[in-house]
Formats: sequence, C-alpha cells, structure tokens
Amino acid sequence: MKNIVYATSEAVPFIKTGGLADVAGSLPKCFDKNYFDIRVILPKYACMKQEWKDRMEYITHFYMDLGYKNCYVGIMHIEYEGIHFYFIDNEYYFSGPHPYDGGTWDLEKFAFFSKAVLSVLPVIGFQPQIIHCHDWQTGLVPVYLHDTFQQNPFFWGIKTIMTIHNLKFQGVWDVKTIQSITGLSNYYFTPDKLEAYKDANYLKGGLVFADAITTVSNTYAEEIKTPFYGEGLDGLMRARTNSLRGIVNGIDYDEFNPATDPHIAQTYDARTFRKEKVKNKLALQADLGLNQDPDVMLIGIVSRLTDQKGFDLIAYIMDELCQDAVQIVVLGTGEERYENMFRHFDWKYHGKVSAQIYYDEPLSHRIYAASDAFLMPSLFEPCGLSQLMSLRYGTLPIVRETGGLKDTVEPYNEYEGTGTGFSFTNYNAHEMLSTIRYAERIYYDNRHEWNQMIDRAMAADFSWHNSARQYEEMYNWLIGE
Ligand code: ADP
Ligand code: GLC
Repeated sequence: MKNIVYATSEAVPFIKTGGLADVAGSLPKCFDKNYFDIRVILPKYACMKQEWKDRMEYITHFYMDLGYKNCYVGIMHIEYEGIHFYFIDNEYYFSGPHPYDGGTWDLEKFAFFSKAVLSVLPVIGFQPQIIHCHDWQTGLVPVYLHDTFQQNPFFWGIKTIMTIHNLKFQGVWDVKTIQSITGLSNYYFTPDKLEAYKDANYLKGGLVFADAITTVSNTYAEEIKTPFYGEGLDGLMRARTNSLRGIVNGIDYDEFNPATDPHIAQTYDARTFRKEKVKNKLALQADLGLNQDPDVMLIGIVSRLTDQKGFDLIAYIMDELCQDAVQIVVLGTGEERYENMFRHFDWKYHGKVSAQIYYDEPLSHRIYAASDAFLMPSLFEPCGLSQLMSLRYGTLPIVRETGGLKDTVEPYNEYEGTGTGFSFTNYNAHEMLSTIRYAERIYYDNRHEWNQMIDRAMAADFSWHNSARQYEEMYNWLIGE
C-alpha cells in the first residue's frame, strides 16, 4: 500500500474559495484504493459550515513549538466518500470569517499549519511515502521536513511534491518577520533557498526543497519558465525544469453531471440537450430578471472577480457587446471595481445583463446549465475548471489561449468541423469581441454546427480518469517502483 498525504488549505465539500478546493477534494477519490491510501489534511476553519463541524470527531491534541510560541494542535477527523480527512484545530489561527485575511497573519497561520501537518503524522500513526503539497500555504512543509523533523526516523525517506495551482500567490514577507514566525535558522534565508528578491518566500522554499514539482496544465508548465508568467520565479522554474511537469486538472463527473444535477431546473444529457437544455435558460431568465427569450444567446460568467480572469477586456467592450443580441449573466465576487462594473451594467442594461455579486454553488450549476456560451478571457490561467464544467454542460467556452484554457478548449474550425469552443490569442479587447461575435454568428446562423459542437464538448472527457493515472505514475516513480 502506498500512503500519501495531501496538505492543502482548502478542499470541497468542507471549504472552498477557488479551484484548489475542487482539486484537493475530488482528486483523492480517483485513485485505486487497492494500491493507494490518500489522506487529506486541512485546517479546521471557524467559517466552515456548522454541518461539517458537527460531523467532525475529535481524535486528540498536543502542543507544538512555532518560533517563540507554543501552540495547541487539535486533530479532528471525518471519513467522507471513503477518504480520511484530518482537520487541524487551533482557534487562535483559524477563527476569521474567511480562510485567508491577507497579510502577515496568513503567513503565521500557514507556517503553523505546515508544521502541524508534519507533527500530526506520528500522532495519527500514518506514515506516508509522499506528502503532496498544494500552493504557497503548504510551501513550508518540504522545508520543515528537511529541518528538525529529520531527527525523528519516522520522517526519513518521505518524499515531497509541490503542486502550483497559481504562481501569482507565493506567501512573501520580510525575512526578519518570517524568521521569527517560523523559527527557521539563518541557513534557510539565502537566495538559493527561501529568499527571493530580499524577502522570504514560502512557495519558493517549497519549490527548492520538494522532490518533484507539478502544475495543473502542460501549457502553464511551459509558460511559468518565461518572465511574463513566471512571477519572478521563472529562473527557478527553468533551473528545475527536469523536476517540473504539467498534469491537467479534471472535475468531479458525479458532482457536475447535467443528467443528474439536483440544482438545475431541467436535467439533460448528450442525447436530449437539443430539446431540454433551453428550459434551464428560461428558468434562469425568470429567476434573475432577464428578458424571457429562449432564442437569445446567453453568455455566462462564474468567477472570482480579479485581474487574472481578464475583466479589463470585458469592461472595455461591454457597451459594444450589449448592442448585440446577447444576454450576459455574471456570478462572482472579488475586487470592488469589477463588482461595481457589473452592477453598473446590470443597472444600465437591465433585462439584458444580470450581475449576481455573491458566492452561490447551486446558482453556479444553474448558470453552467442555462448558458449557451461561457466567457473566460483570462490574462493567465494555470488550468481553469469553469471551462471544464461548461463543456460538461454543453455550454461552449469562449477563452483566451493561455494555460489550461489552451489545453482543454479546442477552437472551432468551420472547415474541418472540429472544435469544442472559441478562442483568441492576444490580450486584446477587440480580438475578444470579434471572437464573441464569431460565436454569435454560428449560434444564430448555423445552429446545426453549434449543436454539433455541443456534441463534441459533451463527449470530451475531463473527468479525473486520465490525470489521476498520471499522478499515480509520478507517485510510483518517486517511491521508486
Ligand atoms: P480559480 O481557482 O482561479 O478561481 P477555477 O476555474 O479553477 O478558477 O475554479 C473556480 C471554481 O470556483 C469553479 O468551481 C467555479 O464554479 C467556482 N466559483 C467561482 N466563483 C463562484 C461564485 N461566485 N459562486 C459559486 N462558485 C464560484
Ligand atoms: C488556481 C488557478 C486555476 C486552477 C485552480 C485549480 O486557482 O487559478 O486556474 O484551475 O487553481 O488547480
């Protein structure tokens, strides 16, 4: 049996702010249980739903040093869909209204979490061959493992993997503060270890000390070796190119299934979408105050409202786009300027634009099901899950060719009758607008072709099946089998 621990700051269904949670919660279920015992460790946040907190069983607690502090570490446990989830309990660190607050508090919180991940392993009696770490919040796991934990033979030979879900977030603060928070010695704060541009950098530490590095698509794995996408770490990515690989994300095909989805008004599948899918559009239009019209092309957006997702482009052409025969529905939260931008257009084009500025899982499913097209013109996109959800629901993605969007959406080719969506290359608002208008033309003038594209989109396989095999291969290779 191969024992593997996932260290992550979020995982569905317990806590989610973005795609990381979908991956960390759904991937562990997709391994062969005869060979792999995958267990997940995450914080127990006060902001988790009461339902989950009630279901947690207390295992034990102990105290752990962190810098000059001595901290309580509680261990809670839930077995969910055959996977053991362990929750690190500490009300001092994990009591805020959100998992992340920004700033130095997050750095202390996740230094605590990373050290606790290692400390609980002997206590729960689970000795992994591999610890698979996700994003900067767990960057210190490989570092601490390399440090004092080596005094305990329990930890000898454990390998680490660092998966980059988003290189933009690195966990950076000044060296002095981080040294006192983490209790790590001077040895670690040099430019070949945690230091980057004079500051201390958690993700960099993880990337330097991990045995293998992955990211969530092949294209992003290449992009991050260049200055434009490398967020200052492209040199390190180039240096570690032999240890770096891209494995594209999948989605949970049971959770996201238009044939069985309890959240949507009308279920449908690859055979029935021509007749049934539109009922979701009519229901959504009624619910969200859009003009009732089965024929109008409905464009959906479900997203964190940040720079990364290309909202500058949308802001730039929104007035022009709204002259067309389209409706636009947005579900998202994030930067105030984008929230207000969409509120403004909802007011200005009422009945045509609907802005839902909050977080709502069931509504996201209804938008994936109801829309004809899904817009995701990201500036950069490590993988992106929303376009995979759209494909699954027969909603054709319109994307910029970057990162995982490039690897998962095949652009329509009208001469060969291939493709599952529409894409453009440059980060340019009018290039995006003409691509949207091209999609409009196919939608209105050639519905037969459009529906065939839906056939192909719904037939594409972005379940975890293939990618989980690639992770298995990597685990086997690291363990030396
Ligand atoms: P990222 O992780 O960069 O935010 P992804 O496309 O990988 O982007 O994953 C985003 C996930 O979060 C998707 O599952 C998407 O449906 C969901 N999501 C984003 N915003 C909202 C929202 N306001 N309400 C519900 N789900 C949302
Ligand atoms: C990050 C990326 C997104 C990716 C997700 C899960 O949030 O922004 O592209 O799909 O992680 O890997």
